[in-house]
Amino acid sequence: MARRKKIYEGKAKILYEGPEPGTIVQYFKDDATAFNAEKKAVIEGKGVLNNRLSEFFMTGLGQIGVPNHFIKRLNMREQLVRTVEIVPLEIIVRNYAAGTMSKRLGIDEGTQLPRPIVEYCYKDDALGDPLVTEEHIAAFGWASQQDMDDILSLALRVNDFLSGVMLAVGIRLVDFKIEVGRVFDGDFQRLIVADEISPDSCRLWDMETGQKLDKDVFRRDLGDLKDAYTEVARRLGVMPKTAPVTKPTLIN
Ligand code: TYD
Repeated sequence: MARRKKIYEGKAKILYEGPEPGTIVQYFKDDATAFNAEKKAVIEGKGVLNNRLSEFFMTGLGQIGVPNHFIKRLNMREQLVRTVEIVPLEIIVRNYAAGTMSKRLGIDEGTQLPRPIVEYCYKDDALGDPLVTEEHIAAFGWASQQDMDDILSLALRVNDFLSGVMLAVGIRLVDFKIEVGRVFDGDFQRLIVADEISPDSCRLWDMETGQKLDKDVFRRDLGDLKDAYTEVARRLGVMPKTAPVTKPTLIN
């Protein structure tokens, strides 16, 4: 058997060449990083949970007609996805102030925003993913005006979907990040949601207690990250069968 070719290794995932042209195998690692990889840890089982959760969100998005790269889950840690040409932007949607927005603008974390706010960061770890405006994006040719219209529409549709799914299980979607990529159909190209959607790239707060159920648990040393992600998976009914249940579930 030939060894498959590694295309790219990132902080939380490895990409391998897929079985057919135009496909990629996305492997979810257990590595957790924060503050541009200054803080690192291995959280056993995180990759398994994120593989399942990203599958769940991407499948749901597909069902409501939001195009994305997900094809199928292959095993506990891997999923088959479409090859895309990644647009070098981190697209952030915020419903409540938190994180860098709170710091930058002096708004208390948890303040509801008058409407969802979409921000763009240039994807460059060496620069720490700096915030950029549409002027930079157009001037440096990272995306066209048509792309930006499509990105905004995708981002807001993902926000409505994710907010609703989370609301149904008592979780507030504070903010999240997506990435988009280009796929080519003959002379045409279009943008689809790519990368992953998981608690690594969202802020998720319990609606009643305010408990954080996302990567801030790791960033801010608030407890066990695996427990937090397991709780999100449990509420959504996305528990991997072989993953150990770390806490008893209270049924009332
Ligand atoms: P933000 O508050 O800008 O940054 P930080 O997480 O460093 O405080 O992040 C907003 C949301 O987007 C948050 O849920 C984390 C996510 N995000 C990523 O997943 N990756 C990124 O590179 C960035 C900039 C944000």
